[in-house]
Amino acid sequence: SFLDHDRPFIAPKNTEIAQARSQLDYQVVDVDREGKLIPPHIAVQSLVEHLERWSSIITRHGLLLLEVHSLTPAVVKEYLDESESLHFDAYHAFSMQHLVEADVFLMAAAEVGLFSRKEAFRKYPKTLPLTRITVNHFEKRKYQIRYATVNDIPNLLKCATFNQPVNEPFFQVLLKQTPTAHLLLEYQGELVAAIFTETKNSTEVLVIREFLVRTSVENWQVLAKDLLEFVEQWGVVKPGIKEIEGLLKYHEAISNFQKSKWYQSSVLNKKLIEKITLHELATLELCNLMAPEYELEAFAARWLLRVFQDMGVFLREGESYQESELVSQLNISPRYQRLLGALLQILHKRGILKIEKERVFTLARCKTFALENISSEVSGFYDYFSEKYPAHLSWLTVVKRCLEKYPLILRGEVDVNEVVFTDGDMELFAGLFLGHRVADYFNELLADGVCWEVEQRLLEEKRAQPIRILEIGAGTGGVTGILLEKLASHAEQIEFWFTDISSVFTRYGESKFKQFSWVKYQTFDIEKSLDAQGIKSESFDVVIANNVLHNTKLIHQTLNNSNSLLNTGGLLALLEFTQPIDILLYFGGLLQGFWLFEDPEYRLDVGCLLSIPLWQKVLSDCGFDEIIPLGLPCEMHDLSKARESVIFARKHQVQEKTFYDKIQQNLTENGKYGQAEFDFISINNSQESSSQLEIFEQECRKLLKSLLGVQRMESLYGDTPLMESGMDSLELLEFRALIERKFGIKLKSTFFFSYKTLIAVAEYLSEREDINFS
Ligand SMILES: C[S@@+](CC[C@H](N)C(=O)[O-])C[C@H]1O[C@@H](n2cnc3c(N)ncnc32)[C@H](O)[C@@H]1O
Repeated sequence: SFLDHDRPFIAPKNTEIAQARSQLDYQVVDVDREGKLIPPHIAVQSLVEHLERWSSIITRHGLLLLEVHSLTPAVVKEYLDESESLHFDAYHAFSMQHLVEADVFLMAAAEVGLFSRKEAFRKYPKTLPLTRITVNHFEKRKYQIRYATVNDIPNLLKCATFNQPVNEPFFQVLLKQTPTAHLLLEYQGELVAAIFTETKNSTEVLVIREFLVRTSVENWQVLAKDLLEFVEQWGVVKPGIKEIEGLLKYHEAISNFQKSKWYQSSVLNKKLIEKITLHELATLELCNLMAPEYELEAFAARWLLRVFQDMGVFLREGESYQESELVSQLNISPRYQRLLGALLQILHKRGILKIEKERVFTLARCKTFALENISSEVSGFYDYFSEKYPAHLSWLTVVKRCLEKYPLILRGEVDVNEVVFTDGDMELFAGLFLGHRVADYFNELLADGVCWEVEQRLLEEKRAQPIRILEIGAGTGGVTGILLEKLASHAEQIEFWFTDISSVFTRYGESKFKQFSWVKYQTFDIEKSLDAQGIKSESFDVVIANNVLHNTKLIHQTLNNSNSLLNTGGLLALLEFTQPIDILLYFGGLLQGFWLFEDPEYRLDVGCLLSIPLWQKVLSDCGFDEIIPLGLPCEMHDLSKARESVIFARKHQVQEKTFYDKIQQNLTENGKYGQAEFDFISINNSQESSSQLEIFEQECRKLLKSLLGVQRMESLYGDTPLMESGMDSLELLEFRALIERKFGIKLKSTFFFSYKTLIAVAEYLSEREDINFS
């Protein structure tokens, strides 16, 4: 704990490698006992050998290491006041303590096969582009990561590249210009993957310029992903770097690489692609396929504005509200506060509102856009739409039912379930998931993929056991019916489990699918442990989830559970909406599951859905590979924007529930990590319009929320001294830097001695005249 740098300097043993390091542009300042400078390359080699000694003795429990780091001169200069840095580096250096920059430190560890587990890793400050402290739980792995050098060029030339064909001069130039910007991973002495990075001119963004892999190496995909993960960690602690661009793209590229064994041997992908190209929808464009949805969305948006107008807002051009003010003015129930933000975005997209920094302004169009006479216009639209698009009648009906009661539902005076499932009627809900051509297309695709899998297993394996299939959140059985029909001829060799969190749906399924006597019914919650629910882990060959998994708190936990259901090599088949869909918000957005999520960093901007690239990332994080996403025929050329998708993924490795996962879960539950962003956490229930002071207080709360997370904010009161509320001095330092950046001011380093509470800080800010904060 902050001790390892205070070791006696030991001159490096390997002078050859030390010498080779002199080509690298280290900026480390290290001083020996006589006060003489230790050359940076010698200092770093000494550190590497020190870590190597650690590495030789640590066990599978790893090495916990809190370490403090130096900063480069350029960063100290840029953040002089915010980092309290100049003296810090000086006194450490002159008292013979061997600090190095955080990225140099992580790389020194990686060179000897020590890697800081990403779940436990923390950097401080959290938000500034500099790193004074890292908290590491190092584990020993069987590969090393190091900087690439010109000696690696012959091997680099043997690699496959993702972006461009490369030649020797390409490497020569980059390795000489920026020698500490390019990394490679070696496994058993063999180069497996390399990443060349650069910092975009005058920005704080690190970009991956080239990603190279040796696909002939077994397991290259796993190792290449590890390299990518290391770059993510190393990149964000690099002095002056705020973000890294394009990581997701490369995760996706690795997952999709069409040379995996399974990919080559299986015909599933080929079969499905063939099917898609020959499908009757193949000649249709998106606007044609989506016409019913677009028309319904356009009408619903006009109705939505009218709803708001009837609630007393958005009547005239030039109105202005803080989003949090609207919550209290409209008396929105706490469960719908996040939905309100999403609804405002709908009106923003349609040019009714302008939203800037959570402030909402009405535009001229609000006077003419709303429905005028609800009853006659709705009934006219209903007749028109139901005649033109009879297959979408369920969508129209459910949107109509909800919007008719919208103010009551939003205020929490009417339960949405009573509106959608009037008198326990499931048929309306069932109609949403089948019966029109887009839904049928996806249902068929999923069912065909699962059938293919079953047939392969029946062909290939002489199995005594039946093939076991489990559907999570089967609900009204949109895809189930189609699948059961297709599987019926193999019924004797199949066990099919129809499950749902709610017994209402399992009972519904039981009566709807009674002709398939081989189907079992059970309640099952994918967020809870399997054991506790009487489900044996690793006992299913196929797991299906049709529009379910996004409805959960933590997508990684959900996918880890899904993974646990499957035996190795088992197939997960998902059907998911993969872009924000406005029309879904009108009713889906009212259901509880839609806003359960606590991991917004893995979701699309509005709501709980994930795009295909996000699914690819989280699936591969959770032990799935050979991921096949499929969209509509017209979307297959670029799936990143596909609106809906069937995604197949195969269980690759057994996910062990480790000690670390438990710690991680505890941290998450305590709100110390994995902070969810709730936009309205700082709502002010006062009916009065916000004063300048309140605005400053809210802004400060937002800054603090980004630092401390939602849970800790709950126990932070405006009039309690910040330190008594559990903030430590490092967090105060960072809070001060955030205030300075946000309001463009400078504060004394003793600022919090005088202004101890949140309210005192807000008062101070509201009195300063040099803050232009409108
Ligand atoms: C949007 S519906 C999906 C549609 C459904 N597959 C169908 O065809 O009707 C979501 C379903 O997932 C179920 N569900 C929600 N959370 C769940 C969970 N944690 N575990 C299992 N099922 C869940 C709901 O009860 C509901 O039936």
